[in-house]
Amino acid sequence: MIKFLFIILYFVSILSLIYGLWTIVPFFYGLPWVPTAKDRVRRALEMVGLKPDELLYDLGAGDGRIILMAAEEFGARAIGIEASPLQYAFTWLRCFFSGSKSKVSVRRENFYRTDLSDADVVFAYLTSDQAIRLQDDLAAQLKPGARVVAVAFDFPDWKPNDFDEGYLLFAYEMPPEKGGMAAYLVENNEEVDLP
Ligand SMILES: C[S@@+](CC[C@H](N)C(=O)[O-])C[C@H]1O[C@@H](n2cnc3c(N)ncnc32)[C@H](O)[C@@H]1O
Repeated sequence: MIKFLFIILYFVSILSLIYGLWTIVPFFYGLPWVPTAKDRVRRALEMVGLKPDELLYDLGAGDGRIILMAAEEFGARAIGIEASPLQYAFTWLRCFFSGSKSKVSVRRENFYRTDLSDADVVFAYLTSDQAIRLQDDLAAQLKPGARVVAVAFDFPDWKPNDFDEGYLLFAYEMPPEKGGMAAYLVENNEEVDLP
């Protein structure tokens, strides 16, 4: 009986350790583990008109749901950039066993150092600080016509060319127009309740 209890305790400890690392490590990179709901991801990829064989990058791949949906539902090629080792390993396994193995991959990398010059679409679920830090690099690196979709936080200097108030999604086309969200609202004569 005691031996059985020790075995249970052993497995509970291992699971707690894995869960702890899964949730805590992303914090050290400044972005907590918060996955995007699948219907929101689908809407984001529709907003930027992701096409078959285009190349999408997800900045902070998490559990790989964005790159897998991009490949499986949109026929795109997709690369996840993920700094946290557990999320990276999990996404690598999901890609390896997926039916779209040839189209998806994940890199253990800091997205501030990723070369995104070949991207057609960038999916970005960032904090507002990260968006401010990244916006000049993205504008300099991305080719004309590339699209960026931001979840929850916008890129403050860029005017979105599409905005979904319900899902709080901001879509941009490169090169970005200046003016931020205010310019979008004035142009579209809209009133929205921003958080
Ligand atoms: C908010 S989650 C988003 C996951 C996924 N993109 C989604 O929308 O479901 C952020 C992810 O980014 C990763 N991350 C945070 N900072 C990073 C960095 N500098 N480079 C690469 N990945 C990072 C975290 O480990 C976490 O898995």
